[in-house]
Amino acid sequence: MKSESKKNVSRRDFLRQGSAVVAGAASIAALGAPAIVSAQNVNSKITFGMLGSGSRGCSILDAIARHSQSIVTDVCDIYLPHLEAARKAAANDKVRTTENWQEVLERKDVDALIIGAPLYLHVPMSIAGLESGKHVFSEKSMGLNMKQINAMLASANKHSDLTYLVGYQSRLNENLEMIRNLIAEGSFGKITQFYCHFDRNQTWKKDGLEGKWDRLLNWRLYKEYCGGLLTEVVTHELDQVLSILGTKPKNAACQGEIMVYHDGREHHDSIMGTWKMEDGVMGVGTAHLSNGSQGSGFTLLGTHGTIESYGGKLKLYWEKAARHLDTVGVKHKFTKVKMGQSLDEDESPNSTPAKVIEFAVDSNYQDATAREFEHFYDCVLNGAKPIMDAASCHESSVMALMAYESSMNDGKSYTRDDVLAMG
Ligand SMILES: NC(=O)c1ccc[n+]([C@@H]2O[C@H](COP(=O)([O-])OP(=O)(O)OC[C@H]3O[C@@H](n4cnc5c(N)ncnc54)[C@H](O)[C@@H]3O)[C@@H](O)[C@H]2O)c1
Repeated sequence: MKSESKKNVSRRDFLRQGSAVVAGAASIAALGAPAIVSAQNVNSKITFGMLGSGSRGCSILDAIARHSQSIVTDVCDIYLPHLEAARKAAANDKVRTTENWQEVLERKDVDALIIGAPLYLHVPMSIAGLESGKHVFSEKSMGLNMKQINAMLASANKHSDLTYLVGYQSRLNENLEMIRNLIAEGSFGKITQFYCHFDRNQTWKKDGLEGKWDRLLNWRLYKEYCGGLLTEVVTHELDQVLSILGTKPKNAACQGEIMVYHDGREHHDSIMGTWKMEDGVMGVGTAHLSNGSQGSGFTLLGTHGTIESYGGKLKLYWEKAARHLDTVGVKHKFTKVKMGQSLDEDESPNSTPAKVIEFAVDSNYQDATAREFEHFYDCVLNGAKPIMDAASCHESSVMALMAYESSMNDGKSYTRDDVLAMG
């Protein structure tokens, strides 16, 4: 076992440095992957084993099928129809299949894991993957509870020579960089509040499943497998807001209710939470499974204007009243930035017409998924620092878990320290 892990390390070093031929290259060739002769070589491929190949797993397989930097050599799923779908989607007719994820860990010719299993398995699979010398791409969110995410952070720190990346693909959106720059330039003044939404009209329940599969594949509905709307969907928006604001949540209170789907589920189908950040910024987050009108995205409100980010589209508005902030010592930089229209061009009482900017990749799910894997390759092959790294994704999980605990305890307020103590 020791020598195996040593071999994996040298393989990894090779992938980073683009030098010698790796052990196991011949067996990779037998699987349909060109042998790795150099990371500089266009035929170099990172070999992936996928653990959990359901709906998201198959959409990842579709998105990365176009990439020359990787090949999926192994897929694993306990549900045979999903395993079969992944075998077909893997873009490798020699892909190996298994129902036992430990088998994939034991394969010396697998460089990296893609973890597409339900949330409660992310941390056990990721830690075991790192321990066996493999790079890890884990779907969001990081883990089920504080104990898991603390163990994950410690393991990622221990294995800092390996890439551990969490699948918050929106963190790579171009619009985030633009928002950060606009805020830093002062064009929206002081940000005081945010709103996040992840609203849909769908049950989340898969019907027609028999026996144990009804529970195992409807894992989103039950506490032992995930944290419901907060860890599954709102977390995407919280993660983006955190990465823009660069602050931490101080306390949270969240109400949740099963309003519509009385089918035995344990998780709410409607939640509404509030967070107060360490710097005083306050935010509201909602998620519905019975009303999709707000869609998914976030809004940031500042003293000089408003930023809305929904579906790869930014809408920027400037406050007309912001002119008066000059008189209380807040510098108004609207004219310097020159992004909006002249205040005098508009008849509306409070703000300028929206300046709309669209980002093609940010609004396309498959392209955004392909882009996050390009970032993963850059980390593995060139030693780039992961953007969705363990520390920042731990923070996003803390923010979601604070609200989750509150929603499960009738809206009682939870501080950051309250949830940290649960680890
Ligand atoms: N980043 C995104 O945009 C995005 C979108 C959707 C889902 N996700 C995440 O992807 C993950 C999977 O979601 P999904 O919608 O594909 O769910 P899913 O239920 O369709 O797929 C999960 C798969 O894991 C399999 N599985 C369960 N236990 C297993 C085990 N012990 N070993 C191997 N396989 C096992 C299941 O059989 C199932 O096929 C979740 O963490 C979810 O939050 C991310």
